[in-house]
Amino acid sequence: MMIKKRMNPRILLFSIVVLLIFGYNGVPQESAEAVTAEEKPVDEKKLTIGEEERFILPSPTDGKGRFTEGLVETYGYNALVGIRYPVFNKASIDARLFEQVHQVVDGFTTSNGGRQVKPGEDRAVLTGSYTTHEALERYTSVQLVFQVYNPQDGKHSTEVRSLIFDNANNKIVSTKDLFTDQALQVIASKTDAYLKDNETFRGLIEEKRYATGIAGNWENYKLLQLTADGIEITLMPGQAFPASQGVVVIPLSYEDVGTALKQERDREVATQPKKPVETSPQVDPNAKKIAFTFDDGPSAETTGKILDTMKEYGAKGTFFVLGHMAEKNPDVIKRAVEEGHQLGNHTYGHPDLTTLSDEKIQNTIAVTNDIVEKATGVTMKIVRPTYGAVDADVQRALSDYPLINWSLDTLDWKSRNTDSVVEKVLSAVKEGDIILFHDIYETTAEAIAILVPKLVEQGYTIVTVEQLMESDGEVLEGGRIYTHKTVAPVEADTATEGE
Ligand code: NI
Repeated sequence: MMIKKRMNPRILLFSIVVLLIFGYNGVPQESAEAVTAEEKPVDEKKLTIGEEERFILPSPTDGKGRFTEGLVETYGYNALVGIRYPVFNKASIDARLFEQVHQVVDGFTTSNGGRQVKPGEDRAVLTGSYTTHEALERYTSVQLVFQVYNPQDGKHSTEVRSLIFDNANNKIVSTKDLFTDQALQVIASKTDAYLKDNETFRGLIEEKRYATGIAGNWENYKLLQLTADGIEITLMPGQAFPASQGVVVIPLSYEDVGTALKQERDREVATQPKKPVETSPQVDPNAKKIAFTFDDGPSAETTGKILDTMKEYGAKGTFFVLGHMAEKNPDVIKRAVEEGHQLGNHTYGHPDLTTLSDEKIQNTIAVTNDIVEKATGVTMKIVRPTYGAVDADVQRALSDYPLINWSLDTLDWKSRNTDSVVEKVLSAVKEGDIILFHDIYETTAEAIAILVPKLVEQGYTIVTVEQLMESDGEVLEGGRIYTHKTVAPVEADTATEGE
């Protein structure tokens, strides 16, 4: 048993003030808003010194009409704890916050509480402060920042905990609950762009540490906070930059991040199930339309040739690109966009989606979207499943994207024969068809050069998938499979026209 020592209350008060100030110093950015000059004086009579006693330091307010509390503990003269944390007067939040604080305090006292400080030696010190944000009329985001001073090695260390409370459901949500995998990839790439745009950080990049530290996985972004205007990403000392750089905070606006929060998106979907998509150039609604679709490119040679033909005849196509090909040939898809063609997503490396987890499915699509967006500024809205293979899991994982298969397969990949591809199309084509080609074969490019003028001559208008499917006001739904445009039966008296 330790004998309780009496400490001069004025010294203790001084310690508390120092601690609280010290604590705030370690907090990134907007922490200043948590500090107020109007803190009530500490009621000295409540202070108790002892091995395991703590007291609550009431100190209204944090400027937002909420209470914050301080926690100060002393362990004889060996160790000192001074933590400030917010109080919301809401059991669901307060209890969990205090639990987090406890965990850190327990860890600290386990290693420092029992140590005997020798005369002239410093005490071990744990300080804690916080920031809070209200976001999107639904979330309360709290970040707890702890600093530990260890007198034995004279070093300071930092621990950060982020908690996001979903006030609609009274629960804590993780970043993974909040963001889709696509969004995570976008966040990672925007973080990268932010850091590389910043002179200070750019100069500190050590390739390997940096690449690992900001890679788009949940572990790297678990300290994310929601704010009124966007998100804040906290990188721990040593995570992406040398530890001497300390905690790095990256603010991104909701606009930057581009992809909505999961719940927000769900709500949007629920309230407005038919979100109109940007309309592409108008096509005569009475035209006899078909869509040419090209998979597995873009290729530097053959895609260019196809674009040349399409341009000559005013035909528009849809290119379902692979992420790894788009990476290599960004100029080709840029040209396709400039010339009015549509881009769709065909995954990064052509995996069979039915063999992948939801996370991996979303990841391969997100990564590809990001590459194409960077190269062209276009956000792809449709997906062509590799091998046309879709099951219920794929549909669920890709519930944001209409899944576009086909009604006419040219088997160009198999025959690699221009005449065979031409014959396949001409013998079977009908209004509303979505035709499957691969723009990576010379034989296909040659077939296109024959087919486009022939079909135009036959009265077909060759359009993008969007123009084919949505020109009459139909809106494609995410997660649904489409193979062609259903053409309304023609009136009896006009049925024979043109035949
Ligand atoms: Ni393919």
